This record gives sequence, C-alpha cells and structure tokens, in this order.
Amino acid sequence: MDLVIGGIRIDPPLVLAPMAGVTNHAFRIMCKRAGGCGLVCTEMFSAYAIKFRDPGTKTMIDWTDEERPVCAQVFGGDPETVAIGAKALEDAGADIVDINMGCPVPKVVRSGSGAALLKDLPRAKDILVAAREAVSVPLTVKMRLGWKVGEMVAVDLAQIAEECGVNAVTVHGRFAVQTYSDRADWGAIAVVRKSVGIPVIANGDIGTPEDAVKALEITGCSGLMIGRAARGDPWIFQRISRYMTTGEKLPEPTPAERLRAAIAHAELLCRIHGERRAAKEMRGHLIHYIKGISGAAALRNRIMTTESMEELLQVLRDALARTGESTAVHTSADIE
Ligand SMILES: Cc1cc2nc3c(=O)[nH]c(=O)nc-3n(C[C@H](O)[C@H](O)[C@H](O)COP(=O)(O)O)c2cc1C
Repeated sequence: MDLVIGGIRIDPPLVLAPMAGVTNHAFRIMCKRAGGCGLVCTEMFSAYAIKFRDPGTKTMIDWTDEERPVCAQVFGGDPETVAIGAKALEDAGADIVDINMGCPVPKVVRSGSGAALLKDLPRAKDILVAAREAVSVPLTVKMRLGWKVGEMVAVDLAQIAEECGVNAVTVHGRFAVQTYSDRADWGAIAVVRKSVGIPVIANGDIGTPEDAVKALEITGCSGLMIGRAARGDPWIFQRISRYMTTGEKLPEPTPAERLRAAIAHAELLCRIHGERRAAKEMRGHLIHYIKGISGAAALRNRIMTTESMEELLQVLRDALARTGESTAVHTSADIE
C-alpha cells in the first residue's frame, strides 16, 4: 500500500489525526519517536486568528524538522480568509496544508467553517479554489460523510476537491450530527474512495492493529488516520504498522512504559510551555496514559489533587517505582 500526497510519500501510510488541544509539538514528537507514524497533523488553526494576527496562534506554529512531513490544518468559512490562513501555514514551513471540513463544534460551525461547509458545497468549492491558488504545497481536505445522517455529501465533496487540484482527502466515517456516537461507517468511506482518483485516507474508530487491517480491507484506502487511540498510546502507529506489514503483533506497552512515556511527555511540555500550562494540559493526557494500569483510579485521584508540576512528576515517579520495572526515563525526548 502506497500513500503519496502531491509527491510526498507517507511511509508508513499512517497519519496522526489533528486534535485540538492535543496534537501540539510535544504530542506529535511522542508519536513520531515511538515510530510507525508517517505523517503528523497539527491542531486546527483558525484562519481568522491568522488573518487578524492573534499572537496566541503564532505559538501554535511549533513544528520542528524531526516531525516532518507535517500537515498543518486550517479552518475558515470564506475563501479569502482561508487562502490567507493556508498561505501563512505554507510560509511557516508546513509540508502539507489541510482544510477542515468536518469539525462539528458549534464555535467552528457558527462561522460557517468546518462541518458547516458540508451544507454548502458551492462555498466549499470556492474555498478550495482559493486555497489551491494560494499555496503550492500539497493540499488536502478532511471531511465527514455529510451533515445529517443519511445525507451523504462526501462523494460530491471529494470529487469537487479532486477537480480543484486537492491532492488527497481524509474521510471520517460519521455525519456531523453524530459527533462521536455510533460506529464510523467504513463502508461509506469505500464509496468515497471509489469515486475519486486521488488518495483517500480512512478515519474513525481505528483503535487496534486488527481494526486497521479491517478498515483497509473494507475501504480499500491507501492510508489510515488515527486520533483518539493515540492518546496515552503513541506506540499504536508502530503496532499497526508492524501488523500490517508482517502480521506480527507487538506487545501492548507495559504500565512502566506508559508511566515513563507520561513523564517524558510532561517534561517536554514543561520545557515548551512552562510548568503551569504543562501541568494543566498533562492532566488531560495522563487519564489516557494510566488507563488500564492497576490502581489507576487511585492514581488518577492523586494526580488530580497535585498542585504543581514537580508534585505531579513525583506522583508519576512513585507509581513507576511501584511497578518494579526500570525507573530510567529517556529524556531523549529533548527538543531542539
Ligand atoms: C480532542 C479532539 C480534538 C479534535 N480536533 C480536531 C481538529 O482540530 N481538526 C479535525 O479535523 N478533527 C479534529 N478531531 C477529530 C479527529 O481528527 C478524528 O477525525 C476523530 O477523532 C475520529 O478519529 P478517531 O476515531 O481515530 O479518534 C478531534 C478529535 C478529538 C477527540
């Protein structure tokens, strides 16, 4: 299976999904260093924030060469603004620019952006024409199946995207109104895949190597995108990649491996964002890192009552010591 997006080979053909509040530099690096992840996506950038030079947005342009290729995602509801946003991301060094046409969050939809575009294909087309004109790096679109259950527009939108010179599309196999309910419909993704010549990346509910192989079989896609399953488990790409290529099932990470990764992740975040923000953000990640390890409930309560990063790290180090495995943490997770 070969995934090439506008001349950029994605190898392995496994993509870390864009996740707002999650896929910042620290998390992307964790996935990249764990291996198996061929492409990382940033959190979504607001084209409006870029246009009006919101200083907070600048701090999100945080990728390094180690992460490449990097796909930076932008959302916006009008062609001119999206073109400005896309161009800014290209100028900042993004290898691929992705347009968000799937986010159902009210704040995004209200501006006519994200999944709102599934209800207005002519405007979606205008946006793609403008974005295509604005950037010369490969351009992709991430979409859901449609807005309302049963009213699939992804085939039309994927065909429009192809006509506009978009290099690949990702399809999350749910409708916008479903948010995360029901199962992602991989069969519907197959219909989209068959309707276009550009690569289609399948997304939604790929949580295990077996899921990945099944999703590939059903969709016939040339790439897979993984989001929630990577939280607390940056090794998932490596396990999927190995299983897809050799059938070998790598072991799940041990509790000690999870805790060591959590510590490395926390230290990375601290270095980038400072202790306060790192401690806040890390609590969200830790729920996932400690899932399934014995005493997780007590550990979670303990984590939630910590008041500083130092205290948080100590709780993790104590938990790591209790596993009886090596407590050495590779802070090769260093950042240039
Ligand atoms: C916390 C969170 C934040 C997300 N943020 C974005 C985003 O910024 N842009 C986007 O296109 N999708 C976003 N998504 C959707 C994911 O990229 C993905 O399409 C969805 O989670 C389904 O894939 P999964 O089942 O592998 O998680 C987000 C999902 C989650 C859970």
